Amino acid sequence: MIGRELVRSVRVFGSVRGWRVVRAAWRQRRTDAWGLPRRGPERARVPGPVEEVVPGPGGGTVRFARSELRISVSAGGTVFWGWDGAGPLPSYALAGEAPEPDPRAVLEPDTDGGWRVVSERVTVAVSRHGAVEIRTPGGVVLRRDPPPRWWEPVGGGPARWVQRSEVPADGRFFGLGGRTAGPRLRDGTYRLWNTAPPRGFSPGDDPVHITMPVQFVVSDAGTHLAFHDNSWDGHVRLTEGEEGAGSGHDRPGIAEVRMSGGPLRCWVVVGTPARVLHGWAALTGAPALPPSWALGAQHARWGFGSEREVRRVVDGYLKRELPLSVLHLDIDHYDAHQVFSVDRERFPDLPGLAADLKERGVRLVSIVDPAVKAEPGNAVYDGGGGIGAFVRDARGDEVRGEVWPGTCAFPDFTDSVVREWWGGLYEERLAQGFSGVWHAMNEPVSFAPFGEQTLPRSARHALDGRGGDHREAHNVYGLTMARAGYDGLRRLRPEERPFLFSRSGWAGMQRYGGTWSGDVSTGWPGLRASLSLVLGLGLCGVPYSGPDVGGFDGDPSPELFLRWFQLGAWLPLFRTHGAIDAGRREPWEFGPDVLEHARAALAERERLRPYFVTLSRLARLTGAPYVRPVWWSAPEDRALRDCEDAFLLGDSLLVAPVLSRGTDRRAVRLPRGRWYDTATGRAYEGPGQVLLEAPPSRIPVLARAGAVIPVRGWGDGLELEVWAPAAGRTGGGLVVRDTGDGWEPAEIERYASRLEDGRVVVERLTDDGVRETDLPVRVRSGEV
Ligand code: NOJ
Repeated sequence: MIGRELVRSVRVFGSVRGWRVVRAAWRQRRTDAWGLPRRGPERARVPGPVEEVVPGPGGGTVRFARSELRISVSAGGTVFWGWDGAGPLPSYALAGEAPEPDPRAVLEPDTDGGWRVVSERVTVAVSRHGAVEIRTPGGVVLRRDPPPRWWEPVGGGPARWVQRSEVPADGRFFGLGGRTAGPRLRDGTYRLWNTAPPRGFSPGDDPVHITMPVQFVVSDAGTHLAFHDNSWDGHVRLTEGEEGAGSGHDRPGIAEVRMSGGPLRCWVVVGTPARVLHGWAALTGAPALPPSWALGAQHARWGFGSEREVRRVVDGYLKRELPLSVLHLDIDHYDAHQVFSVDRERFPDLPGLAADLKERGVRLVSIVDPAVKAEPGNAVYDGGGGIGAFVRDARGDEVRGEVWPGTCAFPDFTDSVVREWWGGLYEERLAQGFSGVWHAMNEPVSFAPFGEQTLPRSARHALDGRGGDHREAHNVYGLTMARAGYDGLRRLRPEERPFLFSRSGWAGMQRYGGTWSGDVSTGWPGLRASLSLVLGLGLCGVPYSGPDVGGFDGDPSPELFLRWFQLGAWLPLFRTHGAIDAGRREPWEFGPDVLEHARAALAERERLRPYFVTLSRLARLTGAPYVRPVWWSAPEDRALRDCEDAFLLGDSLLVAPVLSRGTDRRAVRLPRGRWYDTATGRAYEGPGQVLLEAPPSRIPVLARAGAVIPVRGWGDGLELEVWAPAAGRTGGGLVVRDTGDGWEPAEIERYASRLEDGRVVVERLTDDGVRETDLPVRVRSGEV
């Protein structure tokens, strides 16, 4: 196996690079052989019987013979529990302190010698052997965790543990970060270890760049999110339940989390999907608000290769009157692939180019990779070396890896001093005229033909003063790099909101920006995986993302490119991208028909920009993702839980992309209520399934009856598009106006729609009552 990989690596990376990656892989192996404690015999442990209870804020501590469990319910109804003395902090996921405990929530005796904490929104019950149940106020069980089990090395060291959870038989699992084979997570084992697949990925490839121990569970009994705050390597085995399985009894759904070390602690948030995401954002932080230009069309390519080519592509868009908001420069604009440098032969005047493009309405965004070429004389390397910024092994030697620039060192972003230094380096990017950054290779990747393509597990990390190794730091590497970049940009340009998106990350990454698919394979399966990633990440609190439109590698057929483009136009990050050896991704390269249909998708995106601005603000204020599963407001509709090929964009629109070849009509499952096909104006009644036309010119998009949607109207002014409420019903919508790219607070405007004598009336609702709207209103539906 290794032999074959060796040959392949030499072929892929070229002979010199090929041998270097082989050497790096051996080095990694040696480092770990030396630096990692050997796993000797282990002793298994379970909590044992309850012995004592100590009340505390929001609950208290239940002591068992061989462990103790701390429980705290917050004022907002969020539950924390932690075994073996684990508390909420330290945590890379949390935005700050743990939420205030609910002063009224106390431990009280339950039946059978157990204990419980009763609060307004949730009850937590602990059995006398340490099973934990989360119940609704009405007493329905949402989640039941039997006592956990630990395996402790006899000679000391981190204990492995397993925590099984049972959820209602009708429950469906979502989340776990970005998963390719979702959004509904079927039976299987999902790994918690951020990984860059060596070649592009498709559905079923697991794990990929962003893994999170976040389970989002939807069942008739209610929705909840459970987060095991632990960044170590682990697995989650999911088994969906079955109603009326064996002798008429329900078989519960099972989620079994196995971690190789680290604390056993968990947060549980219950409520409607909107409440759950709100609670999750309160805990882990409000999503960063992208500047409004980042909601427009974006174009990237690895390998523009020169300023001339960049201008040619931008001209191509503008002369065809195709809107373009952002152009991304990949590693080929660097000098010999080195981060924070410019190839001055190919890009002699980057600030001049950036200024020119900005004048024409196009921003430049730069890729930033974490690996720094380990070569004395390289200013970034020397600067980092001066403050001990780079990750070291257990012997104290700098850890080396092979990445694009050659042999590299890796900043330790889990050290606040390093974060501050790294953030300061973005000054160079700003001086080159870039308006935002795109973090890649930050799982982190170190090429290797065998073993893992990352740092040795024994590599040492600061972990913000606690000290530890890569086993714990790996999954938060991208998150802490994002923090460094975001804080740096804020310091350097305090008047503007940073634009940052990152390939890897972890729970809480939304505080610093968004993400994208990474190198999704070109092909229909890759298109499907793109949607799965966006939906899953949204449910884990990361609302701004999107795929490489067209797929990363190879040549999409015109049809595939078009369908990808049409999906991308409805996702928060709308960006075409392709690898250095991939075919073209400009919409005019696929023939006149594709160009015209892509033009229509771009025009619709532009028209809806005010809606996207509103959704970005609402995501920040409420945690609700722009892109939501169709069950979002009707989780009790079981058929919707299984619908994976459509999504809601905000409250008002339902988008049904075409995800397979040769399709010109498709089935769309509607949530309850009336929906209008936005292309034909025809009304459909949900719940149920309808068949809609999906010609090459468009994908089906439906508007909810009564919806009030902010759009760009005549002269680029803001206008309200209104879809008639069904008879006897009312509707409405929210609008947040674009206040620019700074920090101005925004006001949420509320609009209501109703029918009066068969006429649609729209009014603005304010604190002092109802008033006429000052915005032009356009009624889009004929059937009332
Ligand atoms: C990997 C990134 O995922 C991809 O988007 C980029 O084009 C290449 N690295 C080169 O930087």
